[in-house]
Amino acid sequence: MQIKSIRGVKDIMPEEVEKCRWVENKANQVFTRYGFREIRLPIFEKTNLFSRGIGEDTDIVEKEMYTFDDRGGEKITLRPEGTASVVRAFIEHKMYATQTMQKLYYTGPMFRYERPQAGRFRQFYQIGVEAMGSHSPSIDAEVMIMLMEFFNVLGLNQFELQINSLGCNKCRCEYQKTLKKSIKDHLSDLCENCNKRYQKNPLRVLDCKVKRDIEIASELPKITEHICNECKFHFGQVQALLNETQVPFTINSSLVRGLDYYTHTAFEVTSNKLGAQNSICGGGRYNTLVEEFEGPPTPCFGFALGLERLVSLVPFNEKKFIEINPDVFVVSLGEEAKSIVFSLVHKLRSGGLSVERDYDEGSMKSQMRKANKSASLFTLIVGENEIKSGNYQLKNMHSGKQSCITAVSCVEEIKTLITQVA
Ligand code: HAM
Repeated sequence: MQIKSIRGVKDIMPEEVEKCRWVENKANQVFTRYGFREIRLPIFEKTNLFSRGIGEDTDIVEKEMYTFDDRGGEKITLRPEGTASVVRAFIEHKMYATQTMQKLYYTGPMFRYERPQAGRFRQFYQIGVEAMGSHSPSIDAEVMIMLMEFFNVLGLNQFELQINSLGCNKCRCEYQKTLKKSIKDHLSDLCENCNKRYQKNPLRVLDCKVKRDIEIASELPKITEHICNECKFHFGQVQALLNETQVPFTINSSLVRGLDYYTHTAFEVTSNKLGAQNSICGGGRYNTLVEEFEGPPTPCFGFALGLERLVSLVPFNEKKFIEINPDVFVVSLGEEAKSIVFSLVHKLRSGGLSVERDYDEGSMKSQMRKANKSASLFTLIVGENEIKSGNYQLKNMHSGKQSCITAVSCVEEIKTLITQVA
């Protein structure tokens, strides 16, 4: 029986990898300029890192984690996100001891047992960013500005930045009580899920996607009107800084995020080009998570981008790709040529050229067809006459012009010709 990949888990084919790598390189360039350094994190961690970090009552922890006992009987989970791991590493490696901010980013696969659909996978890739060690609203604004710059570099233009404030733990707690009181009157009209959420996590009622519930939620008390003065001031500052740098945004007071660690600013970037799964990026402040894991008080701000969704939005054109077509396609004809083609290709590659050949050594016609298909810049033709004379034929595949190059200095001569073509 043919074995197929698991539902919601897909291969990333070479053409797609090219795009991902291009996007990741741009992320690296932009984030590095803002002082972020890459951290590589394990793909699996102890389960309680995620259940405590993300929150026991969240969808991720309740129903989406890939959890298993390892051979030693330890509960292990394939990471559903990166923030909890960054926090763990930050504490474990005493990264706080440097007394300066830690600005980190990471890329890699995440795992969530969600219902697969367009843009939603069970193994998906994120690019994440975490700025750790400052309360300043400048950090909130700067990280979002960096994200906007990244989108700009990618050529993305149709998206919306939505922001909200979730207050601090104290004022959010008060708001939750007010919210619960208001929700109570609507319980019979709300969906089953929201009835459950009402008990455990009433904030999540605000971002329910059921139509009737959206209408009800729009009438509920707004969090931004209930947060304390300090939180209001912080949120006001963030908005002022975004305005100062002309970053367009809208305030969405129903934006609550699906992970429990957020405090103060929360944000999402959505695109109407994505369909139902329209969130490209989500993030915000989480000022208490490091402390909750017994680290020193460390206010943090971060986000994560869904790489598949992001890549699907980038307006790629040929120019953007790293050159994947070979410089040279070697065509060999006759027994003598066959015996030297292996070391000739090796010599060209060692000289820094990208080279392809026909391993089946078919007829001239078939080799030329393959050369055309490879879209190489040049075709190097090596037959008996060429070997005898010590000169190879080099065909410029774009102009069709053929020239003679000396066998001994073929690497240098081809390289010179490439600079003339480029
Ligand atoms: P999140 O909103 O759960 O946040 O995920 C961030 C992004 O990952 C989403 O906006 C989406 O693009 C992508 N994503 C999530 N689930 C899937 C899926 N099943 N298939 C495809 N893409 C998906 C976090 O993960 C937080 N750790 C972000 C953060 C970092 N907050 C602070 N620091």
